[in-house]
Amino acid sequence: MGIGPTKVVGSVVFRYTTVDSTQEELKRLLQHGKLPIGTVVIAEEQTRGKGRWGRSWWSPKGGIWCSLLMSVTTVPYFRYTLAVIRWIKDTYGLDALIRWPNDVVINHKKVAGILIERYRDLDLVGIGINVNIEQIDNIPYATSMQIESGYKIEIDEKLPTLFEAIQSYVGVDDDTILHQVRTNMAYMGNNLYIGGKCYKFEDIDATGNMILTSGNQRLVVNLNQVDHLDPMFRFLVLKTRTDNKLTHQ
Ligand code: BTN
Repeated sequence: MGIGPTKVVGSVVFRYTTVDSTQEELKRLLQHGKLPIGTVVIAEEQTRGKGRWGRSWWSPKGGIWCSLLMSVTTVPYFRYTLAVIRWIKDTYGLDALIRWPNDVVINHKKVAGILIERYRDLDLVGIGINVNIEQIDNIPYATSMQIESGYKIEIDEKLPTLFEAIQSYVGVDDDTILHQVRTNMAYMGNNLYIGGKCYKFEDIDATGNMILTSGNQRLVVNLNQVDHLDPMFRFLVLKTRTDNKLTHQ
C-alpha cells in the first residue's frame, strides 16, 4: 500500500450500489494501491454494516453510508460529529447534538454514528447517517432525518456539502474543536449515573475524555471504556469490568 498526495475530502469517490461494509471495502482498496487522503467509499446500502464494539449497523437504501481515508487526529471522533451536525443544520435547519462519544442525536434519538478504525498510520472514518428512511422499527431511540424533518432530500445533490463540512474541520486546532464540542454536547452539566451512583458531567478534556464529578471526587472516563450512554435513564454503561479501572483524581 502507498499513500498518494493529500487531496480534499471527496475528490476521489468510489461508489457502490451494495457493499458489505464501506469500511471493509476501503481496506480492500488500500491493499491494492495508492489512495489519497480524503478518498471516500460510499454505498447505497450495506449488507454487513459495522458499528462500534463489533455491533451490526442497519444500512438500508436511503441512508448515507460512507468511509473516508483520513489522517489521524488528536481528539478522536469530534471533528466528524461536528461536521455532521453542521451538515444537518445547513441541510435541514435542524439542531443536532453530540451524544458522547460518537453519536449524533436529535431529541435524544440517534440519527448518525461514527466508527473510526486505525489502518496502519491512517484513520478509516465510517459515517452512517439515517437520511431518507421513513420508519425505523426495532431500534430503540433511533431516528432519521426524514422522520425529524418530514421530507426527503436528493442525497447525490447534497453529498458535496457533507464533504465540504468534513473538509471545513480538517486542520482546525484542538482547542477550537473542544470549544465547539462543549457547546454541542448533550447532557453537558447534567447528572449521569454509573452503577447507581450519580455524577455531574462537567467537561471534556483535551483528549476527548469525559470528566465527571461527585462531591470531591473527579472521574475520568475514556471513550474505550464506555459501551453507551442510555438516553432514557442517563446511565453511562461501561464495558464489562472497566468500572474498577476508571481514573479517580
Ligand atoms: C456506531 O455508532 O456504532 C458507528 C456506526 C458507523 C456506521 C458507518 S456506516 C458507513 C461505515 N461502514 C460501516 O460498516 N460502518 C460505518
